[in-house]
Amino acid sequence: MSVTHAPQTADVLTRQDPELAEILLGELHRQSSTLQLIAAENFCSPAVLAALGSALANKYAEGYPGARHHGGCEIVDVAERLAVDRAKSLFGAEHANVQSHSGSSAVLAAYAALLRPGDTVLALGLPYGGHLTHGSPANFSGRWFDFVPYGVDAETGLIDHDQVRTLARTHRPKAIVCGSIAYPRHIDYAFFREVADEVGAYLIADAAHPIGLVAGGAAPSPVPYADVVCATTHKVLRGPRGGMILCGGELAERVDRAVFPFTQGGAQMHTIAAKAVAFGEAATPAFAAYAHQVVANARILAAALADEGIVVTTGGTDTHLVTADPAPLGVDGRTARGRLTAAGMVLDCCALPHADTRGLRLGTAAVTTQGMAEKEMERIAALLAGVVRGEVESVRAREEVRDLVGGFPPYPA
Ligand SMILES: Cc1ncc(COP(=O)(O)O)c(C=O)c1O
Repeated sequence: MSVTHAPQTADVLTRQDPELAEILLGELHRQSSTLQLIAAENFCSPAVLAALGSALANKYAEGYPGARHHGGCEIVDVAERLAVDRAKSLFGAEHANVQSHSGSSAVLAAYAALLRPGDTVLALGLPYGGHLTHGSPANFSGRWFDFVPYGVDAETGLIDHDQVRTLARTHRPKAIVCGSIAYPRHIDYAFFREVADEVGAYLIADAAHPIGLVAGGAAPSPVPYADVVCATTHKVLRGPRGGMILCGGELAERVDRAVFPFTQGGAQMHTIAAKAVAFGEAATPAFAAYAHQVVANARILAAALADEGIVVTTGGTDTHLVTADPAPLGVDGRTARGRLTAAGMVLDCCALPHADTRGLRLGTAAVTTQGMAEKEMERIAALLAGVVRGEVESVRAREEVRDLVGGFPPYPA
């Protein structure tokens, strides 16, 4: 097995730093011998990894193509222009900024472009699936802005649109944020646009999770509705870890200045090149088929989990995400995750709306990249339920996981 899948670096690293090479190999082994069900993760392609491990990592490039603070940027300028053009064309956006180091820094830049400290912002509350950047007191967002949380309906688990409208009318926020770390259903961007227009607010879509599905035509796009769309490039989109921002031409300059020089310094050119590779991959029919399969797999997984007696939030999913309460099997999410981790099934806990206990969050982006389909989703659900119930002990479960993933290597030799 090769250490990195970036051909120009793999052998060098093994020779020069066997200690670190061993660690990389260990992680590659962990990823390929256990089941990756973390909804925010994926396996990016060897081409994306090659760009990440390229000589562009050496280049300092503060500023934007054609207007850099450093010399020698003529080649990386081409790479960034390519990434921007591909992002614009992939998402039908007038403007794209591909420099944000992460999803959180993209959100920070969106706020910096549109808001002033102390402004009121409406966003999904953290107990209902809002991200840290949507008003957590432990995050810059909660410290610098006055967040008003909306929630989800206690019965259906769906975003409470009546509450959103009422809160918007009462608090007249400067911006409304729609987007979540755990909401499994499509977001009604047209609804949020209507409310934002009614109260004179900006609409910020934090599409970190569904943006890959949007690229593949498997989820509605926020681009026609939101003033600013923030996203990550490493989830379903299958690119390098990083962020990006899409917006209309009228906000382009404000967004660019909010990213650099307001919230960041030099752009990471190797990551931007890797983003360009990922955008190129995401524009292919093969990626569209992948994105639709991700959703089909999540739907089967959700239905199979429900058949096992697990409560699936909102009764199913429209996306790559499934959130579920294992309580009917006799344990809470935290205990369930512990048992599943021991069995080689890697997933997250999540908040359960209107509940004291935590649930489980699963995603199908990575297993679908590996080539798994409906049959494997049913097998995963049955094994998961057996492990959570304590019926299948961890050694036997690990064997079954190894058998399952053995047929679907993420990076075939
Ligand atoms: C909705 C949402 N916003 C922002 C982020 C932050 O992304 P990052 O971890 O790259 O900072 C995430 C990450 O999961 C997310 O789901």
